[in-house]
Amino acid sequence: MGVGDFLKRFDVSELKSEDRIDREDRKVLGGVFDRQTHLSLERLASKGVLTELLGIVSRGKEASIFHGRRGRRGVAVKIYSVEASDFRNMGKYIKGDPRFSGFRNRRQLVYEWAQKEFKNLSRVYGLVSCPEPIGVYNNVLVMGFIGKAGVPAPKIKDVELKRPEYCCDRVIEYVKVMYSKRLVHADLSEYNILYSGKPVLIDFSTGVLLEHPLSGEFLERDVRNVLKFFGRYGVKKDYNEVLSYVKNVK
Ligand SMILES: Nc1ncnc2c1ncn2[C@@H]1O[C@H](COP(=O)(O)OP(=O)(O)OP(=O)(O)O)[C@@H](O)[C@H]1O
Ligand SMILES: [Mg+2]
Repeated sequence: MGVGDFLKRFDVSELKSEDRIDREDRKVLGGVFDRQTHLSLERLASKGVLTELLGIVSRGKEASIFHGRRGRRGVAVKIYSVEASDFRNMGKYIKGDPRFSGFRNRRQLVYEWAQKEFKNLSRVYGLVSCPEPIGVYNNVLVMGFIGKAGVPAPKIKDVELKRPEYCCDRVIEYVKVMYSKRLVHADLSEYNILYSGKPVLIDFSTGVLLEHPLSGEFLERDVRNVLKFFGRYGVKKDYNEVLSYVKNVK
């Protein structure tokens, strides 16, 4: 079964012309959609999690993000590549997390990675500003779409913030709330925060529980990254004070 077949099953009438998914993207689609991924997408579709798959939004080294629909609602579909994933780096964020017992091979690890992102989002959704977790199957994660009409909200590094201090406080608050839920994002920076009227955290796959032996280190790095970014706007916060504020949860 080819990519075309899959797309046909997802209301290709929506793909009015080649410009929605251009030739470049087809190449990527071809690269991303191995047979297993194909089956995973179908499984999500049969469960009603995904109705249509539209264009590609972002092509990362390890995952590609597509815009899709669940009924009339826009969703983001994150497809992790089993081939391109950095096996060793991922292991660092999985080993030591009590939720993940072990994996047999590369494919298994990537599946756990997608599960991890889904679980992390589920843990804090509604408490911090992040995409709504909708479904996950194997290496495919479906979540709420941050943006409008298939165009994702910009990364916070690419906007001119009008209220940098306020945004910085929001992000610190999110870090604290996550911490109170025993979660550290572990890849927090201006690259994984979108701006949609307010900061929205994304890319939770690295997130670890406090039980993880490196959680303290990851937390410190997150806080440093955040303060460094907002520091560019002249927002001054004391690193140690912020860190103790975050950790001081009742
Ligand atoms: N829920 C979402 N809604 C809208 N756009 C999204 C969503 N999640 C991710 N994106 C888009 O895809 C990009 C990459 O997402 P993410 O950071 O989760 O993946 P990644 O594997 O880190 O990819 P990259 O290596 O490009 O950073 C984001 O910067 C954003 O443009
Ligand atoms: Mg990212």
